[in-house]
Amino acid sequence: MSNPFKDILAHTESGVTTITLNRIDKKNSITSAMYAAMADALDAAATDAAVYAVVIQGHESIFSAGNDIADFLNGSSLAQDSPVFRFLRGISSFPKPLVAAVCGPAVGVGTTMLLHCDLVYAGDNAAFSMPFVNLGVCPEAGSSLLAPRLMGYARAAEALLLGEPFTAESALEMGLVNRIVPPSQANALAQRQAQKLAAKPLSSLLETKRLLKKSQTDPLTERMAEELASFSRMLREPAAREAFSAFMEKRKPDFSKI
Ligand code: COA
Repeated sequence: MSNPFKDILAHTESGVTTITLNRIDKKNSITSAMYAAMADALDAAATDAAVYAVVIQGHESIFSAGNDIADFLNGSSLAQDSPVFRFLRGISSFPKPLVAAVCGPAVGVGTTMLLHCDLVYAGDNAAFSMPFVNLGVCPEAGSSLLAPRLMGYARAAEALLLGEPFTAESALEMGLVNRIVPPSQANALAQRQAQKLAAKPLSSLLETKRLLKKSQTDPLTERMAEELASFSRMLREPAAREAFSAFMEKRKPDFSKI
């Protein structure tokens, strides 16, 4: 069973809270307990006046394989008060700068959480994907709103309808990523940038982020609720059951009879 105290590491030092996804044997796929631990860490960082910024990072070989598929099959809750939605609400409304370091695969929520980060540093091995359609579900975390705004409709449609991975270079060109570095340097770079933020006046950081995000705050809340309702319904339908069973059974899904 997943142990959130080991699978999510969170510590605060010199004004920066660092949240590390640390379930490497399962490719940093995220269980309910891990979402809860990350939501708690974000809540604590938001209210602690000594915290100026948060870094979210994985391992240099893997950022995250997205939601834990076994959790999906076991019917984990996606209600508004569920750990996953608490995390998504926490990250989408986080008032201080969020910095991410991403190396290796970033699948599903591994990519969509980055749409809420302010600075993203990628290893040159990063591979981003939002394969919701391939899994019989639909976009989440506000990605149906934020992806077309960020990358333009054509590229968002390619990423969300085909669900194909895209490279660190494409992500840089789209504006999802700020800079590409060798994987061994990504976490350190994110940490250095966060330390720069920690030397600035907190009130200016808070007000600047609030103003930067203002135009998307209301539509985002509404879209996330709509996505959640569709995603929850689709999770129980045959296409998703087939996709998730196929993944666990290490075979290709067969949607021909659905
Ligand atoms: N949920 C649960 N377990 C997962 C997982 C996930 N999302 N992603 C990987 N794992 C597990 C595998 O089942 C495997 O477990 P095992 O060692 O007990 O068999 C282990 O992690 C290693 O995964 P594997 O697929 O063998 O690694 P890989 O290096 O060949 O591929 C990925 C890495 C990330 C490309 C691949 O694991 C993947 O595509 N994962 C699923 C992504 C996904 O669809 N996420 C849901 C998004 S909504």
